[in-house]
Amino acid sequence: EYPEYVKIVEVGPRDGLQNEKEMVPTGVKIQLIDMLSETGLPVIEATSFVSSKWVPQMADHTEVLQAIHRSSHVRYPVLTPNMHGFQDAVAAGATEVAVFGSASETFSRKNINCSIDESILRFEEVIYAAKQQQIPVRGYVSCALGCPYEGPIDPTKVAEVVKRLYELGCYEVSLGDTIGVGTPGSMAKMLHSVMKEVPSSALAVHCHDTYGQALTNILTALQMGICTVDSSVAGLGGCPYAQGASGNVSTEDVLYMLHGMGIKTGVDLSKVIEAGDFICKALNRKTNSKVAQARGDY
Ligand code: HMG
Ligand code: MG
Repeated sequence: EYPEYVKIVEVGPRDGLQNEKEMVPTGVKIQLIDMLSETGLPVIEATSFVSSKWVPQMADHTEVLQAIHRSSHVRYPVLTPNMHGFQDAVAAGATEVAVFGSASETFSRKNINCSIDESILRFEEVIYAAKQQQIPVRGYVSCALGCPYEGPIDPTKVAEVVKRLYELGCYEVSLGDTIGVGTPGSMAKMLHSVMKEVPSSALAVHCHDTYGQALTNILTALQMGICTVDSSVAGLGGCPYAQGASGNVSTEDVLYMLHGMGIKTGVDLSKVIEAGDFICKALNRKTNSKVAQARGDY
């Protein structure tokens, strides 16, 4: 039994671009988001309010957030790891934010320079402040299916961190297969463990496609009642603190699969392919989306 509707969370402008070596011009980011805003996508993660020393590519967060043409049908969350990021995001006009933790202690230190426990304290502050201003907060848990430093991660550890974020007030927690090592087997085990603590309606899956398992892992999650999927236009992406992490599953391929199954998304595949074509031309590279490759040139 599959869901009738799946919510797609487009993370390309953030997860897709954060790892690019060459600075992507701010105008290109803005145009990409504006094109994506016309596709019917309900959520577009726009940028990150992180340290520009750590992630130089996201240094133009304020300009991006202020220049995009926001559609009233789209939500534009931004990443905020701490109060510093949250305050900058609110000053720039953010109306939704996301905190990002990890199920791996080592990855937490490498990615956000603190332990899991410390990160939860930071998130608690952010969530508290966000609540005062009626700003919804999404949560991420990285390394849900494996860590670049620690290898496999115990599903009960994932469930514990997800539960903490959910109980702090994240309306949804996205389970990150940060380095794309999961399989339907490990996905099912992890979800089984997490769903004992948090309802499936408050969970999302966030699959990177490093090992080519993303679509099948997503299908497994849908079978288990998950109905929110993160994806990235043209399959762009990778985390700077997860060596070897390739792009996210491509939005085009996820849409093709879902629509083929009769599942509604409200998203126009052709328009997403156009946005993907735009960003690939701007980055001077080939798309990672099989569907976009099959559909050919514009
Ligand atoms: P830190 O150095 O530990 O922070 O960084 P600090 O509190 O010790 O402060 C040090 C300096 O940074 C200070 O400035 C602060 O003001 C400044 P100084 O006094 O030295 O001039 N600072 C900030 N500046 C801008 N924005 C901020 C901020 N906070 C402090 N928010 C921090 C901690 C988290 C900021 C840092 O480690 C960082 O920026 N990390 C980047 C993490 C990141 O963006 N990773 C990629 C996204 S996560 C991901 O991709 C995974 C995901 O896709 C899911 C999945 O696939 O699994 C979500
Ligand atoms: Mg990611």
